[in-house]
Amino acid sequence: MEISERLKNLPVQFFASLVGKVTKAIEEGRDIINLGQGNPDQPTPLHIVKALQAAAEDPSSHRYSPFRGLSELKQAAATFYKNQYNVSIDPETEVAILFGAKAGLVELPMCLLNENEIMLLPDPGYPDYLSGTVLANVRYETFPLKPENRFLPDYESIPDTQKTAAKLMYLNYPNNPTGATADLNFFNKTVEFAKEHQITILHDFAYGAIGFDGKKPISFLQADGAKDVGVEMYTLSKTYNMAGWRVGFAVGNPVIIEALNLIQDHLYVSLFPAIQKAAVEALTGDQQCVNELVSCYESRRNALLQACQKIGWDVQAPAGSFFAWLPIPTGFTSEEFADFILEHADVAVAAGKGFGEYGEGYIRVGLLVSEERLTEAIERIGKLNLFI
Ligand SMILES: Cc1ncc(COP(=O)(O)O)c(C=O)c1O
Repeated sequence: MEISERLKNLPVQFFASLVGKVTKAIEEGRDIINLGQGNPDQPTPLHIVKALQAAAEDPSSHRYSPFRGLSELKQAAATFYKNQYNVSIDPETEVAILFGAKAGLVELPMCLLNENEIMLLPDPGYPDYLSGTVLANVRYETFPLKPENRFLPDYESIPDTQKTAAKLMYLNYPNNPTGATADLNFFNKTVEFAKEHQITILHDFAYGAIGFDGKKPISFLQADGAKDVGVEMYTLSKTYNMAGWRVGFAVGNPVIIEALNLIQDHLYVSLFPAIQKAAVEALTGDQQCVNELVSCYESRRNALLQACQKIGWDVQAPAGSFFAWLPIPTGFTSEEFADFILEHADVAVAAGKGFGEYGEGYIRVGLLVSEERLTEAIERIGKLNLFI
């Protein structure tokens, strides 16, 4: 039996080998502090779990969902955007319900591009973006996110040939892996760029809730004309610790929303209705749980920064997301450094190279363990005397 060339071409998971090494080390009985993953560590807030319990007992949840999801959830997404960002969304034509943002990100190239057409992806960037290019059999070019540009793309330096050929571009702020955030000025420039070169924009707003130092992250749809050129994808995975529930949505341009709904008409019959009803509770219920979660990540970030400072590790504070992007000492590649600290400090991190060429020279640390464990991880690295 043979599988298709298309599936054979899917990218190999760069981090699979890290997971293997960490599992082996834990099996050996070592006390590994795992900062390598992006899986929220806190439970889903109780009022959302209770809404799921109640909805799961309701027989109306046991039938097929409407193909494109429950109207209540689309309305809740629109209400959420109005409340949080003062953006008006038509719930029927401008919302597509997704099995998490990942599903939408992977589906979008199939929805908008013909084979061999070109899309633009950030480097470093979320590795799953590549899966969508292979499944749609499209080509991609990358644009660098550099520290001197605050990890924002420099549109001027994208080659003309790419600007002319590209049909779709992915952006993601607050950014995984760099922790950078974008401002309204940047999104306004993005709309101009998209209009000038007729490039559709997908803004991946997975970390939309997580901004530090009192600065709430900006939605791409707050920029004038954003809806003319693109969509934003939002997920409940991070905002409400619902990564296992698989629920998110896209909002924005109605033609793109219709395309996402159309492909999904052929792939699924939307999500378990009880999960959709619980998602309504998450989006429209009390948001205090989100404030508490953001404070928790901010305290962890501060503990990490303080510990880095103590050992002489010169790092920049992430402005959002739950990741810190730390420069590595000279003499190592990012993979070598990740292997070295796993071996000698029992600390697991994600090597920057796994996010693209421009990730070289960095590691990504998740703020997904307690302040004490984060501090201990950095102290252990400090004992290796690499920063003197
Ligand atoms: C940048 C980014 N986009 C999208 C996702 C996927 O989120 P979801 O759980 O909604 O599929 C993640 C998850 O780690 C992410 O880091």
